[in-house]
Order: sequence, then structure tokens, then C-alpha cells
Amino acid sequence: MADQAQRMREIFQKGQVFKESHKGGLSRTFVVASGKGGVGKTNIVVNLALILGQLGQKITILDTDFGMANVDILFDLNSRFTLIDVIQGRKDFDDVILKGPGNVRVIPGGSGLSQIVDLDRQQRERLISRFSLLEEKGGLMLIDCPAGLSHDVLSFIAAADELILVTTPEPTAITDVYSIIKIVDNYKLHSRVNLIVNMMNSARDGQNVFKRIKRVCESFLEIEVVFLGGIEYDQSVQRAVLSSFPYVLQFPHSRAAHCTRDIARRILFGVEKPEGEAPGAGKKKGFIKRLLNLWRAK
Ligand SMILES: Nc1ncnc2c1ncn2[C@@H]1O[C@H](COP(=O)(O)OP(=O)(O)O)[C@@H](O)[C@H]1O
Ligand SMILES: [Mg+2]
Repeated sequence: MADQAQRMREIFQKGQVFKESHKGGLSRTFVVASGKGGVGKTNIVVNLALILGQLGQKITILDTDFGMANVDILFDLNSRFTLIDVIQGRKDFDDVILKGPGNVRVIPGGSGLSQIVDLDRQQRERLISRFSLLEEKGGLMLIDCPAGLSHDVLSFIAAADELILVTTPEPTAITDVYSIIKIVDNYKLHSRVNLIVNMMNSARDGQNVFKRIKRVCESFLEIEVVFLGGIEYDQSVQRAVLSSFPYVLQFPHSRAAHCTRDIARRILFGVEKPEGEAPGAGKKKGFIKRLLNLWRAK
């Protein structure tokens, strides 16, 4: 793991990833990760996507944990194909993209992507151009990750514009999320991380978790921690999972839906963009190019 992160840092320091200035209108990419599994990432991605869509954003979800009871199940979507089929030339991009409710697009990523990706020039160009079509339309891409820090997850984190970390108030989840922040800070993958506290008992509970994490980060690291908000523990979430019908649609007046709407608004209006950047524009070149550069440099 340390070796992989070291390689990434070298790539960044050489400027291979960031040297091209961004073009306006690219998608803004948010990667959603956590140390521990089961903290609610997939539910958050799906329900945030729906609300951001309702707020007028073009939303694409890249599900990098496809096939593991994830976005497809929550949306009740059915697909046997993933980005891996596109990369290996068996399927066209359009055959793989799924349409969820509310015009949310879902790209099933397939797991172990970075391991199998050994693209020749033509495949690489094809993937970049197909992705660019999506990216140039602007909008937001949310990337749902498996738990922990595999090589895949680390490269998604490195290539995304913003990192959202999800924790619960449980001490083990907090410790695990802090380990991720330490690595992100160590290798300067981002200068800030955004935090969501899920399954909190109250707003104060969420604030306390945030303050604990922020205090440790301020004492030992050089990274900004931004609180996007908390989502209360709410059985509507579990009921929604059981019926494959997201809680913001099925229970729009639930506590969880209310909290998720606050977070969506903060993402759109509260988190300021890096200086000089047009609204909606990625700060670096397109996500997929950055990702492929990282993989190529393995
Ligand atoms: N705010 C919440 N309140 C109650 N239960 C929740 C909440 N968020 C998630 N859950 C429960 O946790 C389970 C795991 O959530 P999931 O989104 O699959 O986590 P992850 O993607 O991080 O592994 C869900 O099936 C649901 O039962
Ligand atoms: Mg998940």
C-alpha cells in the first residue's frame, strides 16, 4: 500500500497528472469512501444523487463496487455488464450505462478495475473519448467505492476533484476514517476532505464526531476537514433498502431524507470551489484521463 501511494505521489510531483490546465464545463467528480464497510456509503451516494438531480444537476454514479449488493440493488437495476466489458471491447459504453430513477445515470464499474486494465492506445483513447462525452456535459459524478484502501480506491481518490469520507459515530469507524485522512495528507492527494457522519443519534452527536476528527487532524496533519453534515439513524433507510426504493423517494419526509437534502445543498452551495474555477468545472483535466494516467504509471 505504501509503495502504491508513493508511486502516486511521484506521479503528482512530476506533474504528469496536473500539468494540463482544466477546460471549463467538465464534470465535478466526488469520490465517496470509508475505512469501514457498512457505514452507509452506497445509500448516501444513491440518495444524494437523486436529490442533486431534483436540484437540477446532471448526475452520473460510477459504481466501483458493482455486483456487491450496491447501487444496482438500491435502484433495482439489472445489468450483467460493466466498464470492464467496455475496456475489453466486448460492449459499447452505451450498452453499459444504466438509467436510474430521476435521470440518474449509473455506470457499473466492475471491481478490480485497476488490476485488469492494461489498455492499448486505441482502447485508452476510446474510453477517454466516451467518458469525455459525459464529462463535457458538466454535472456531477459520484463515485461509490468499496470500503478500505485498495489500489482501485486510492486511484479513484487521487483522480477525483473532491473526497467525501463517510463515518459513523462508532470509534472503530472514526479510527478507520482517520487512517484514510492520514494517507491522503501524507501523499498530498487532496488538501481537504469532506466528512459525512452517518447513523448519528442527533445533530449534536454528528458535530461531536466531526470536532473530534478535526481536532486530531489539526494537531497532527495539514489537511482541512469540512463537515458536510450528518444523517440520523433512521429505520426508513433499512426499509427502503429492503424494497429497493431509495428513502428520499419513498420516505421524503423521513429524518434521513431531511438530513440528506441538507448535505446536497451544502455540496452545491456551501463548499466553495478552488480559486479561479468556474462553477461546475473540474479543477484538473477530466477524471478518466487522470485515472488512466495513474494506472498507466503503475
Ligand atoms: N442512516 C441510517 N440509518 C439506519 N440504517 C442505515 C443508515 N444508513 C445505512 N444504514 C444501514 O446500513 C446498511 C449498509 O449501508 P450501505 O449503504 O450498504 O453501506 P456501505 O456502502 O458503506 O457498505 C444499509 O443496508 C442500511 O440497513
Ligand atoms: Mg457500498
